[in-house]
Amino acid sequence: MILGVFDSGVGGKAIADSLTKDFPEAEIKYVHDHDHMPYGGREESEIIQLTEAALQPILGACDCIVIACNTATAAAIEYLRKAYPHEKFIGLEPMIKPAAELTKSGVIAVCATPYTLQSGRYEALKNEYANNLTVLEPDCHEWATMIEDDDLDEHEVENIIQDVLAKGADVIILACTHYHWIKELILEEVGDKAIVLDPSDAISRRVSELLKG
Ligand code: DGL
Repeated sequence: MILGVFDSGVGGKAIADSLTKDFPEAEIKYVHDHDHMPYGGREESEIIQLTEAALQPILGACDCIVIACNTATAAAIEYLRKAYPHEKFIGLEPMIKPAAELTKSGVIAVCATPYTLQSGRYEALKNEYANNLTVLEPDCHEWATMIEDDDLDEHEVENIIQDVLAKGADVIILACTHYHWIKELILEEVGDKAIVLDPSDAISRRVSELLKG
């Protein structure tokens, strides 16, 4: 089995690692676009163009391709499914539905890139699952670049997490694959005050379902 993984940068590595662990027999073809990241502050048309260009080496070569980037999924997944109907794409989207099921306070926080937060797909998810919830969307626009460049301002992350906790969030969604790499820091900050949802924990099940069906 050959699994393709794409992200703008090192977020995809978290997803690729998780797939390697769960499918040790699979070959993972991981492509990224480090030179053009961050995608999260770009226009939709640019994100589509860059994603399509970065995918070229693995199109037609995989059993399925995980778009391991919330931003690229939000901007490009519909286009990709139409343009490449024979490919099996799996996108990553903010885990609003599980968060809505888990929250007791009725307040959830979505940590994501600016593009993801203003996308139509995200708006639709909120309308479907979070209508009766308070959804906090802290400003995380610097996080992906700090993580990609291994130049993390821990205080900035800690302040943002403390702020959403103070506002009552009891579920925090990591809705950018880069944030997997600061999950430990966030968990330390959160303690037992909130649940942290990370899509890399759920991706293997999605791959199994798609390849079975
Ligand atoms: N890893 C990407 C995501 O999941 C975002 C990083 C970027 O802004 O390029 O949204």
